[in-house]
Amino acid sequence: MRVGVLYSRIRRDEKLLLEELRDRGHDVEKIDVRNQRFGLESTTADVADLDVVVDRCLSTSRSLYATKFLDSYGVPVVNSPETGDVCADKAKNSLALAEADVPTPATEVAFTKEAAMEAIEEFGYPCVLKPVVGSWGRLMAKIDTRSAAEAILEHKETLGHYEHKVFYVQEFVDKPGRDIRVVAVDGEPVAAMTRSSDHWLTNAAKGGTTEAFEIDDRALELVERASAAVGGGMLGVDLMEVGGEGSGEYTVHEVNHTVEFKALTEASDVDVPARVVDWLETRAEAFAADGGDAGGGPDGDTNAADVDDATDADGVVL
Ligand SMILES: Nc1ncnc2c1ncn2[C@@H]1O[C@H](COP(=O)(O)OP(=O)(O)O)[C@@H](O)[C@H]1O
Ligand SMILES: [Mg+2]
Repeated sequence: MRVGVLYSRIRRDEKLLLEELRDRGHDVEKIDVRNQRFGLESTTADVADLDVVVDRCLSTSRSLYATKFLDSYGVPVVNSPETGDVCADKAKNSLALAEADVPTPATEVAFTKEAAMEAIEEFGYPCVLKPVVGSWGRLMAKIDTRSAAEAILEHKETLGHYEHKVFYVQEFVDKPGRDIRVVAVDGEPVAAMTRSSDHWLTNAAKGGTTEAFEIDDRALELVERASAAVGGGMLGVDLMEVGGEGSGEYTVHEVNHTVEFKALTEASDVDVPARVVDWLETRAEAFAADGGDAGGGPDGDTNAADVDDATDADGVVL
């Protein structure tokens, strides 16, 4: 098949994916979105005759717009712009999960610091304040006291840009020092790991340590439902255990639409890139069968946030 890869930086994850695609003899068209223009009817990118395009943009804005334009030209792209739209925004993400009756932490959104303060006082301490767009545990605040809340809200309101004017307040979940990341393709788990830390943020990007996790039936069911709730695709589903380690009860705090594979490949016995390419092959077939109009989407712990300037330890800037 002919596979397009949208990217702006080739990290280890993209290298693993490209290697797997080439080993299988697929024809790969690398599309560096920084060098392309997207018009209303056509693009400078060579997207002709692509059987499937996989979005690996690190930046949320690039990911959302590039997939939207390709989709409008009828180019089959995963994940779909609709899935990206829901997953890129924590408020939309929480709403989609709640609408699908997937257990998710109690959350409120407010637009002024006074209203946000009311939400915080109602949740009680500690509670959590998150940026609506972001990943890798950045700019997350665990709020322990009213005076801390006041300071953070004032800073956000004064110094934050547009997205920080939306205050996303969440109950603090007393998780057992770890959370769970499941990478799934159209609801079917590929592999899973725990991310453990003494810090409340367990993201691998924040130094969390990873270990393979065996998915039980309840997690399986929730992953499937969470995936469907955001429109399917290749996803990173984040769960926390409620009621203690191994309790088998979970809350899903987010679903990520572009996911890294390297930590998961290292933590588990699963050849994640191989499974991802298996899935891309089936997506390409499905797109072909539908005349190019199917929907479908990408460890560790990122979604594609606006991290243009962030440097991943393994990152190679092309
Ligand atoms: N409500 C919460 N209660 C306790 N811990 C949380 C809560 N929400 C998130 N966390 C911790 O913070 C980490 C990052 O949160 P998450 O919502 O996944 O944002 P990001 O997009 O930055 O990964 C999670 O992996 C989890 O360890
Ligand atoms: Mg996360």
